[in-house]
Amino acid sequence: MPQPRHGGDRLWAGRIAGCDPEAILDFSANLNPLGAPAWVKDFLGQNLHLTADYPDPNYRELRRGIGAFHHLEPAWVWPGNGAAHLLTWLGRDLASQGVVTLVTPAFGDHWRALRAFDADVKTWVLPWEQNEIHLPKVGQGLLLSNPHNPTGYLFTKTQLQALLDTWNLVVIDESFMDFLSPERSQSLISLLPQYDNLVILRSLTKFYGLAGLRLGYVLAHPDRIQQYQQWDAPWSVNGLAAALGGQLLQDREFQERTWEWLALHYTQLFQGLALIPGLEPYPSAANFILVKTTLPAPELQRRLLVNHQILIRDTVSYPELGWGYFRVAVRQTQDNQKLLTALRSERITP
Ligand SMILES: Cc1ncc(COP(=O)(O)O)c(C=O)c1O
Repeated sequence: MPQPRHGGDRLWAGRIAGCDPEAILDFSANLNPLGAPAWVKDFLGQNLHLTADYPDPNYRELRRGIGAFHHLEPAWVWPGNGAAHLLTWLGRDLASQGVVTLVTPAFGDHWRALRAFDADVKTWVLPWEQNEIHLPKVGQGLLLSNPHNPTGYLFTKTQLQALLDTWNLVVIDESFMDFLSPERSQSLISLLPQYDNLVILRSLTKFYGLAGLRLGYVLAHPDRIQQYQQWDAPWSVNGLAAALGGQLLQDREFQERTWEWLALHYTQLFQGLALIPGLEPYPSAANFILVKTTLPAPELQRRLLVNHQILIRDTVSYPELGWGYFRVAVRQTQDNQKLLTALRSERITP
């Protein structure tokens, strides 16, 4: 059975583990373990009638809600069926610029979107184990994620702002930025009015635990947004997600609860991993941790599935990482402890 190219493939994991997919403890998808805010279930129930009609093809309310949250006019916002969907149009825009530098190891969908338009891609491997990072200017377009998936590396706003003066188009995938509290955030959103060559991608599926509902958005200069809308299929965001999006962003209580949860549980999990012989976790700004392992990751993944019904993300699909690493999401204490106990029992030798 081929290895999945994304996290969260319970069906695959259940087959390897020989158990019900629902019984799998999933550390491979980087989703908020608090789940969606409690009110979302009622909201969806009360608004089921929206599925009978076409959504507003211009998504006026949704764009107003997202724009208001970021202090931008609706014309600066275009929503999509998750960030992955929108990456397609960002790939097209980047491919049309000329040579595109892709910061790697890169989320698989960055590759997909660029290849879909035969982009001339040059890769730049992020030296995530170093403190000093200098990204050379190669080509016209640049695509990177911040915080970076899968390493958890956080570029500073100052580092990235310097790039905006020299590149024709800079696309920053901030799909995990909302896991950082406003004091820690290095988002470039506030720079948008100054730079028409800046595009920011956001996801609402991870932070708000709505990976199956799907919702993401692009923020960029209105001319670009208009172009993306023209390229896009109509009604790509379903009516329920469209009605929900603006309200999600207003739930400050849920956001604060998530930031508090992550600060505590990240530290617990990081420290626990660092104590296991044969493992070396890398500091991460996001809700996941990249770990170097002396036992090849696919073998460790198999053992954790068969012996403990735990799914971790191996990094075989990232050529720069190969068999020597895995990635785990930060979850609640009990789950994190289960993972640490399982890893210890597998006796990974240093
Ligand atoms: C860096 C990055 N961007 C985008 C996505 C896709 O997010 P969405 O669920 O909104 O499509 C992911 C999903 O893992 C990701 O890691």
